[in-house]
Amino acid sequence: MCGIVGILGEGPVAPQIVDALRRLEYRGYDSAGIATLEGGRLARRRAQGKLRNLELKLDESPLRGAIGIGHTRWATHGRPTENNAHPHANRRLAVVHNGIIENFRELRDELKAKGHGFATETDTEVVAHLVGDAIEAGRRPAEAVASALPRLKGAFALAFLFNGEKDLLIGACQGAPLAIGHGEGEMYLGSDALALAPFTDAITYLEDGDWALVRRRSVEFRRVSGELIKRQKQRSQAGALLVDRGNHRHFMAKEMHEQPEVVGRTLAHYLDMAAGEVRLPFALPKNIGKLSRLTLVACGTAYYAGLIGKYWFERFAQLAVDIDVASEFRYRDVPMQAGGLTIAVSQSGETADTLACLRHARRHGQRVLSILNVATSTMARESDIVAPTLAGPEIGVASTKAFTCQLAVLACLAMAMGRARGVLDPQREAELVSQLIAVPGLMAEALKREHAIELLARDLAKSRDVLYLGRGTSFPLALEGALKLKELSYIHAEGYAAGELKHGPIALIDEALPVIVIAPSDPVREKTASNMQEVAARGGRIILIGEAGAAQEAQVETMATIAMPDMGAEFAAIPYAVPAQLIAYHTAVFMGKDVDQPRNLAKSVTVE
Ligand code: M6R
Repeated sequence: MCGIVGILGEGPVAPQIVDALRRLEYRGYDSAGIATLEGGRLARRRAQGKLRNLELKLDESPLRGAIGIGHTRWATHGRPTENNAHPHANRRLAVVHNGIIENFRELRDELKAKGHGFATETDTEVVAHLVGDAIEAGRRPAEAVASALPRLKGAFALAFLFNGEKDLLIGACQGAPLAIGHGEGEMYLGSDALALAPFTDAITYLEDGDWALVRRRSVEFRRVSGELIKRQKQRSQAGALLVDRGNHRHFMAKEMHEQPEVVGRTLAHYLDMAAGEVRLPFALPKNIGKLSRLTLVACGTAYYAGLIGKYWFERFAQLAVDIDVASEFRYRDVPMQAGGLTIAVSQSGETADTLACLRHARRHGQRVLSILNVATSTMARESDIVAPTLAGPEIGVASTKAFTCQLAVLACLAMAMGRARGVLDPQREAELVSQLIAVPGLMAEALKREHAIELLARDLAKSRDVLYLGRGTSFPLALEGALKLKELSYIHAEGYAAGELKHGPIALIDEALPVIVIAPSDPVREKTASNMQEVAARGGRIILIGEAGAAQEAQVETMATIAMPDMGAEFAAIPYAVPAQLIAYHTAVFMGKDVDQPRNLAKSVTVE
């Protein structure tokens, strides 16, 4: 999603703004721009594509101003062209925006009727005109922003720079994050604390409906109503999280290889390994024993983690789970009982649809437990209980280590709830804990299959379509494997419950279709073996991910087998995620795709 940076500095700020925007690259973007005051007058540079293109423009035509705003744009309204890139400006101000102005058409029609001409396809441009119009009518910049904000509908964060105002930036937020960084005689604005980490660790987060007048030596917080308010400054840990690719070619490669360590770290946070017990770092709601069901919401990969978790909650805690993608859940008429528990799963903690579900659940009197990777996120601030995944910053747009850490947390939660509800006895808990403790080592073992997968990927790269099959927890993993391949290589892929094969997708099977079967040694493996035979009988090309000997046992010939180490069945989904990720990664790398920032994708999806 879009990234916002603003700096009130002592010397030229353009290089610092570009540097901070680079730390927001992980959010995904397709154009970038910057505006500064040059001798008090607004000046802009914008470029389509990556930040490098903006830097080339700045090399040709430098900006030297000591105040400025910058933006990386992930296109929502209008193509990712230079003309649509932010900042949007008129003779009074420049503005950058993250999110969507839902009522932009209505506002644009009104402004057009007043004689305003529009130059871009974006929703953001109405904000520039609306505030500019108020300044033209004689209002001061702060009054102009104050008059415009109540008219904007949607979820957004905004930063304004004004012509002739060398010591003022205004930031505003409503449903999208914005942080103020406090320096010594310098001040900053940013979409997150990570962007500002090299400048300061003293951060104030704006809350929904806040706006701030930021000057070099002061900051004033107001509500949309105009009321003056106080907001706390906090110390951010983001500096400790600054990352590089290490020896890896891509962030995604580094993040896949970090999994044994970060999954181990996450498990250690939730388990007493010596005692063979789950030990949560927070208390579960007191009524957990009386609940008959849970609600689980998430998007994308986090949703697939939740789907796997559903099997565990049902099995270990005897809790029925109502799970849906957040974008559907928020508009369904789901009866939610006060006192119930909703679990939200999100890497970023900023995903607009998941956040909306969290708020919806709380409005219905539910407690919300969020499984989050970003501890300073909006969801973290709005949840009753935060269950952290200790994956560290995930920079690759494709989620890998956050996914497997989410699985680790879901597994521990399901067991803890089983114990709290009196349906998981200590002996079974100890068995499960010993299976979980083995997971990081099994993931390290799975990573050793990388070379074989790299060779296989060359073949897969020629495919037009790929089918993924699995049963039990391997079914959501098949969905996740297909998503990874789609988002990274742009090859069409589908995940199916293997038992559904004969209800339709079997029609697709021919010699050209690779079928990736995820088949750990679990109680349903014989059923999966029958489905493999159905594929083989129709000439399908099977790639089996299973324990050594699984192909012979199933009596099928495979195009390739990725031989996984022997393991307990309950949490096999976590180590089996590794080959699914590696397949997608190497196929995309072989095809020359940008695996860290695939086209059209954003890391943090702060619009619906
Ligand atoms: O930050 P979140 O976990 O809430 O993000 C949810 C999805 O947008 C995310 O998992 C997305 O599907 C990834 N690109 C998957 O790799």
